Amino acid sequence: MNPAQQRRILVTSALPYANGPIHLGHLVEYIQTDIWVRFQRMRGHEVYYVCADDAHGTPIMLRADAEGISPQALIERVGVEHQRDFASFGVSFDNYYTTHCEENRVLSEYIYSQVRDKGHTRTGKVAQAYDAVKGMFLPDRYVKGTCPICKTPDQYGDACENCSGTYAPTDLIDPLSVVSGTPPEIRESTNIFVKLGDFEPMLRAWVRDGGGARVQPAIANKLDEWFKAGLQDWDISRDEPYFGFAIPDAPGKYFYVWVDAPIGYMASFRNLCDRTAGLEFDDFWAVSSTAEVYHFIGKDIAYFHTLFWPALLHGAGFRMPTAVNCHGFLTVDGTKMSKSRGTFIMAATYKEYLEPEYLRYYFAYKLGNGIDDLDLNLDDFAARVNSDLVGKLVNIAARCDRFISRAFDGRLADSLPQPELYQAFVDAGEEIAALYEGREFAKVCRRVMQLADRANQYIDEHKPWVMAKDAEQAAQVQPVCTLGLNLFRVLMVYLKPVLPALAERVEQFFASGALIWNSAHTPLLGCRINRFERLLNRIDKKAVAAMVQASKEPEQPAPAAAEPVADEPVAAELGTAEPAPQWEPLQPTIGYDTFAKVDLRVAQVMAAHRVEGADKLLSLKLDLGFEERTVLAGIKSAYDPATLSGRKVVVVANLAARKMRFGTSEGMVLAAGPGEADIWLLDIDDGAVPGLRIR
Ligand code: 2FM
Ligand code: ZN
Repeated sequence: MNPAQQRRILVTSALPYANGPIHLGHLVEYIQTDIWVRFQRMRGHEVYYVCADDAHGTPIMLRADAEGISPQALIERVGVEHQRDFASFGVSFDNYYTTHCEENRVLSEYIYSQVRDKGHTRTGKVAQAYDAVKGMFLPDRYVKGTCPICKTPDQYGDACENCSGTYAPTDLIDPLSVVSGTPPEIRESTNIFVKLGDFEPMLRAWVRDGGGARVQPAIANKLDEWFKAGLQDWDISRDEPYFGFAIPDAPGKYFYVWVDAPIGYMASFRNLCDRTAGLEFDDFWAVSSTAEVYHFIGKDIAYFHTLFWPALLHGAGFRMPTAVNCHGFLTVDGTKMSKSRGTFIMAATYKEYLEPEYLRYYFAYKLGNGIDDLDLNLDDFAARVNSDLVGKLVNIAARCDRFISRAFDGRLADSLPQPELYQAFVDAGEEIAALYEGREFAKVCRRVMQLADRANQYIDEHKPWVMAKDAEQAAQVQPVCTLGLNLFRVLMVYLKPVLPALAERVEQFFASGALIWNSAHTPLLGCRINRFERLLNRIDKKAVAAMVQASKEPEQPAPAAAEPVADEPVAAELGTAEPAPQWEPLQPTIGYDTFAKVDLRVAQVMAAHRVEGADKLLSLKLDLGFEERTVLAGIKSAYDPATLSGRKVVVVANLAARKMRFGTSEGMVLAAGPGEADIWLLDIDDGAVPGLRIR
């Protein structure tokens, strides 16, 4: 490749937590990234794909504790398992490291101190649940109790899985620490915050100057919403005991895991540079860098990667990402992966029953460049792989090779009978390359399968099996099969990023070296090829059923002390296409008298503001006509307080006042919706004045 055209590209996938095994949900991302990376390598670019285990945080500390081992021992063991699983699915990292390393500690301290020295941090008091028995502050997910809204027992401290309501752990009825099973206390601590708002103009410019390529349109919309709502200061410290890096100037405080996790991308690359002659860290991370940096992530962690992470990079004087590419979540047979149904399938379990190439193809077949969820329909999976890969693709080789190896001693003809057909396949290369570049893998698969149909049609038209029996036509068998095999070879070039293991078998078969993108340009002629070995077997549906059976776990009643796997929920789950509503079961019928006990009133918002330290609450000053009230409403994720002043709302006016962590709420404002951005306040037609009763 002309050096002027060669791009220098650094690619990352999100770092998996080091406290559990890799499952098929994880693999969507690693397979997606790996396909893109392999494509870029085949095109001749200089590409580095790095990753690491995300080794810090409360869940890892507690998991190690529960197993009676040190966190270091746990992350070491899990790290080995993760690398084994990724390798078995052909994920071709150039470096796989851990965030619990010296490189990451040095970089985290450096980035923090730069951001601090430029005045972008502050301290602030936060009130938090504290487990006095265990002697630790509890993340929201480590407090469980009865939902204050629908009264379902055993709900996490931030949101109810039954009614989807959101609240603070202090709102739970009868809260208990997940760690010790005792009621938590509320204690205050002084934490360190990054003033994210300082970076807003820079973040807006970063998104804008990418010309639409930094993030997908759905994420750009979400960013607009986040900017509009105002960027909140980000609490980056956690109190000991915590498994992580100590903050240098704050005794007893540790960096929150989400600070040093993305810095782990750099640390892994730094480690690679230290082991690779001529590879310079600054060439990729200095502000002046001309290299490209891409992060592949799930849509649920977009907030961290499009706001926090670029802010930290910029604040510390590093370049920012070229793009952040998000994907949707995996469902299996149309629903969330489920242990009781056997669809929560671990990578290692899959591998025992089925070839990883099948899954790589099916995921590619389903992946576009958007953030829609992707469904692994197990029946369709088997049918699609059997039809496309075995029935169409590999079949081309099988139909031609038997004649070449039997009748022509493995020798290909010296020329192609229909060079224009071969050329048509070559000409499709740039179109397919553009689809790969844009992460339109589903379209790649469809285009390649169209070409496979055309190749099979060519063989059908010429019928080498008939020609071979006819003395007059027998001489045509070798060129016809030579063309068929060369068409197959071109298709394998195009699918090599998706099917690297199959491509390797094909490379041995053709014995002409590794396939690169330009291998398609020159047909193989006049040379000998190796004997055909079976390239790919059909998926046996019995193997799929056995895999599901092996993945089944009996439905567990939710244990009081179930341990969360992630350290606190992510900021905002992104809605994509309108999901089918999950209708909540109707409450038992009540008589009018019971309903009449609820005193609903029209109220007008006089003022609305955020509540210091509260993730979800807005404080609303309401005019009820006959009096004024203050109501704390969990609507911050959906409403900008600046837009609320003057609007009318519906209030439950005779609800007993509730003392919450952030103050007392004198009533409840009514709203519909599951939470996050999907919360809608009830409105009332013009003319209704504050204080009117609603019946
Ligand atoms: O959500 C997760 O699984 C995190 N461990 C991802 C971290 S990505 C990066 F920031 F390190
Ligand atoms: Zn509830």
